[in-house]
Amino acid sequence: MIVVRKLEEYRWSEYRDLRLEALNKESIAFSSSYDEEKNLSEEEWRRRTKNLLFALSEDKLIGMIGYIRENKIKTKHVATIFGFYVTLEYRCQEVGTRLIDSLFEQIEKSKDIVKVKLTVIPEQKAAIKLYQNCGFKIVGQLRKELCVEGTFYDELIMEKLL
Ligand SMILES: CC(C)(COP(=O)(O)OP(=O)(O)OC[C@H]1O[C@@H](n2cnc3c(N)ncnc32)[C@H](O)[C@@H]1OP(=O)(O)O)[C@@H](O)C(=O)NCCC(=O)NCCS
Repeated sequence: MIVVRKLEEYRWSEYRDLRLEALNKESIAFSSSYDEEKNLSEEEWRRRTKNLLFALSEDKLIGMIGYIRENKIKTKHVATIFGFYVTLEYRCQEVGTRLIDSLFEQIEKSKDIVKVKLTVIPEQKAAIKLYQNCGFKIVGQLRKELCVEGTFYDELIMEKLL
């Protein structure tokens, strides 16, 4: 059975392993890099673990997603989604959809959030499809926003008004 929930902080090393797997296997999908994160401190991994939602199958981590809120007075109504990943063998089984639905349940509890945004590279077709299924619209394209091993990639800006 697959469940979506927060993870106990003491399981931080399982999150670390999933995050490093994501950065390693899907290097173009994330603006952070494996090499930048592989030596982060336990304290940092523990801090991050508390801020994410996870999908678990038989208690094993198989996916994750998070959001951050802007902290400035003029932009605190905006949330940004980050770190969305489902491990390869569980893809196309609606794990990603369940993660994002649960994230929206959390976001909607904060009545003052009125917009959710994210960036995604055009090559990540599954992610774009899933975001569109959830009501996100493409509102712009940043040219050559990422450089991964010498290749430049654009990023699409997507947003959803609540
Ligand atoms: C994006 C991701 C989390 C989706 O996880 P998932 O569990 O497979 O998601 P779901 O099964 O809920 O939905 C996937 C959707 O993409 C569609 N899809 C899968 N492969 C596709 C492709 N190559 N082209 C277009 N659509 C595709 C599926 O048909 C499904 O849409 P549907 O429900 O309308 O049929 C997963 O693909 C992933 O980890 N990708 C790599 C990391 C990434 O891109 N993260 C996002 C960074 S912004």
